[in-house]
Amino acid sequence: MKNVLIIGATGQIGSELTMKLRAHCPGGNVVAGYIKGAEPKGVLLESGPAEEVDITNPQMIADAVAKYNIDTIYNLAALLSAVAESKPQLAWKIGVGGLYNCLEVSREKGCALFTPSSIGSFGPSTPHDHTPQDTIQRPETIYGVTKVTGEMLSDYYARRFGVDTRSVRFPGLISYVAPPGGGTTDYAVDIYYSAVKGEEFKCPLKPGTFMDMMYMPDALRAAVEIMEADPTRLKHRNSFNIASMSFDPEIIAAKIKEHVPGFKMTYELDPLRQAIADSWPDSLDDSCAREEWDWKPEYDLERMTQDMLVNLRKKLL
Ligand code: SER
Repeated sequence: MKNVLIIGATGQIGSELTMKLRAHCPGGNVVAGYIKGAEPKGVLLESGPAEEVDITNPQMIADAVAKYNIDTIYNLAALLSAVAESKPQLAWKIGVGGLYNCLEVSREKGCALFTPSSIGSFGPSTPHDHTPQDTIQRPETIYGVTKVTGEMLSDYYARRFGVDTRSVRFPGLISYVAPPGGGTTDYAVDIYYSAVKGEEFKCPLKPGTFMDMMYMPDALRAAVEIMEADPTRLKHRNSFNIASMSFDPEIIAAKIKEHVPGFKMTYELDPLRQAIADSWPDSLDDSCAREEWDWKPEYDLERMTQDMLVNLRKKLL
């Protein structure tokens, strides 16, 4: 991995992954691919090349790949789960049409391709506790449908055309840098903002709603490590379960209270997000990722909470 194109470079994951890869690939080109209206700014713009790359436009992808001699594409364009329910056609166009464009360019130009999947690729009939790597995936959201389709299409391109497609199923991602938008797991980011601002947090999910979550530094490391893993050890490709912590609103609120004693949370349920969360696993079994490419998380809830609070205080106060 030397010359990398990140599609969706100004989004929740892309804005941090671009910076990590620029540090990781010195001497290479790590190109921030963006769409109109979401142009890179500040350090993201100043620290390396940027190109307008709309994932729904295959020519734009092919042009950027040719211009920078790209060997690896990170496809991070997506609508998150709750917002995708209000725009299902667009979610499919970006999630599946966009992936198809990336796969075709990768096939023609010999690029490796990373496309994240998600805990959202599972559904109500999936075993919810210690969800196995290979199990029932019958998601009921359009987000999940695009993710399962993406996993299968990516495996097909690997088998049929030898395209080096790899991916992980991300849990809800928590970070103090770029805010997520329209996700079901976003409450676990918003809660820290409220705590630091001294505001009461209105939780959209009810007590007992467990989901897998992960601190962004672990997620970024996973995205890099999977693409650098020894291919002879990989029995799976798209996608690996990865996990680091699972909690419900009560547990994260109690943890924050240990550090911010005056913190208050009340409940104001969002039926759409609740239904989505109820259909997703409570906790994933990530033993295949551990065995096949030595995946190991570094952050638990306590360590993440300390880091989030320190950094959000710097950012907001
Ligand atoms: N964080 C995503 C969402 O909530 C799940 O992958 O939509």
